[in-house]
Amino acid sequence: MNKNELLIGCDIGTSGTKAVVFDASGKAVSSATYEYGMSQPQNGWAEQDPLDWWQGACSAIKEAVEKSGASPDAVRGIGLSGQMHGLVMLDEADRVIRPAIIWCDQRTAKECEEMTADLGLDTLMKITCSPALTGFTASKIKWVQNNEPENWARCAKLMLPKDYIRYRLTGEFATEVSDASGMQLLDVPNRRWSDTMLSYFGIKPSMVGKMYESQEATGRLTASAAALCGLNPGVVVAGGAGDQAASAVGNGIVKSGVASITMGTSGVVFVHSDSVKTDKEGRVHTFCHAVPGAWHVMGVTQGAGLSFKWFRDNFMGDAAATAAMFGAPLNKYLDDIAATVPAGARGLLYLPYLMGERSPHPDPYCRGVFFGLSALHGRPEMLRAVLEGVVYSLLDCAEIIEEMGIPVSDISLAGGGANSRLWTQMMSDAFGKTMFKPNSSESGALGVALLAGVASGIYTDVASAAETVVIKTISNKPDMKLNELYRGYFGLYKNIYLSLKADFKTLAVLDK
Ligand code: XUL
Repeated sequence: MNKNELLIGCDIGTSGTKAVVFDASGKAVSSATYEYGMSQPQNGWAEQDPLDWWQGACSAIKEAVEKSGASPDAVRGIGLSGQMHGLVMLDEADRVIRPAIIWCDQRTAKECEEMTADLGLDTLMKITCSPALTGFTASKIKWVQNNEPENWARCAKLMLPKDYIRYRLTGEFATEVSDASGMQLLDVPNRRWSDTMLSYFGIKPSMVGKMYESQEATGRLTASAAALCGLNPGVVVAGGAGDQAASAVGNGIVKSGVASITMGTSGVVFVHSDSVKTDKEGRVHTFCHAVPGAWHVMGVTQGAGLSFKWFRDNFMGDAAATAAMFGAPLNKYLDDIAATVPAGARGLLYLPYLMGERSPHPDPYCRGVFFGLSALHGRPEMLRAVLEGVVYSLLDCAEIIEEMGIPVSDISLAGGGANSRLWTQMMSDAFGKTMFKPNSSESGALGVALLAGVASGIYTDVASAAETVVIKTISNKPDMKLNELYRGYFGLYKNIYLSLKADFKTLAVLDK
């Protein structure tokens, strides 16, 4: 391993694009982030401009390379990771037709019903390993066909967020199996586009990218893209991975028996699987992993970090000034406030369904809930309840995965929420399990940098690269007394959704 060789991991996220430069030992040398917004034209809708991602990717890569102080000659490969499921549509001249409809958009409930009626649940499960879901790309395509036929008529290429960046970096129209699994156009067991799904949507083969495995080289930097990124032309761009599979590689989740929980905007319980295993009810997803010949199962809570940020920004507006007065980082200060409330939040529960839900309830209609409010409660109880509600939702996902016969053990915690001592301890107590922390806090970027390392010949394969570079240490040990208390609340938490399921639908009709 030559430590002078550098790899770049670039993650096209929801709040911004981050580029990280790594040396061949997996050590982060420098990084840069470019932030952008998300527009919500209606309740439950979420859109972004792909040109913001492009500007973000070029700026972040250029700045990160400059900060590294290294010569561009040292950069051997780029790996792309990104928010999954987003729909990017280009016309014949490669112009973006409309803003991308992104992963957390929930406008497509009707289209999902239509897809299920036309194709049948069995076919969907057999080919795509999933029921029709509002979060996935296919129903967004149907929505455009139903509501914007003029845009559909102009569409020449369909692609995912990171694959748009690949197209602009290399001129290659390509994708890879892990991210493509979330389009619901892929034959997931066979790792190739599904003819049945493409023909159902009237998608010509020329409209979808060439399919690669995640660690394969998909193209090289063009001269014009290299100039914008401060790099040399010809640098290899690897397939990369959807953000969850990317983080999993960066967290060392590359073999059976290990799991991760990522506490980002969404919260994800992720396990590796050497064979295709699906939940019959489609409550968790089965996708191709970024490790060749492997799949992964994951449960996704849409509103994890999103719930925390929503509560912080709407109800704790004054906290930023107070935290600054004490010289404390805001989130650490909020942790301290929530820690003043005992476990169980004095009988207050929170359901994190601010953007509908995917796992364990594929339900676009459900909404966030505070249950059990009393005059005793104030903002600290509500804040603690929000954190606990997200933990219960992830526990709910983990239970389903375990019911499928896949152990959720040896759990690594990742994502921004993993920096919270209180939240990670809650996770350990509620799960009743020891939690681990991987050595890199940049797991997504690291995961795709490792894939780029395989594509450019620095490492021999994904699993051994991850196992060499990723080192885990214990981060939290469970308090089994609190586990008993949390388990009691968890039973009630699960019942609240069941009691309100029909009411969420009524509310959706009233609040159209
Ligand atoms: C995964 C998922 C999220 C998004 C945004 O299925 O929807 O991870 O990719 O982070």
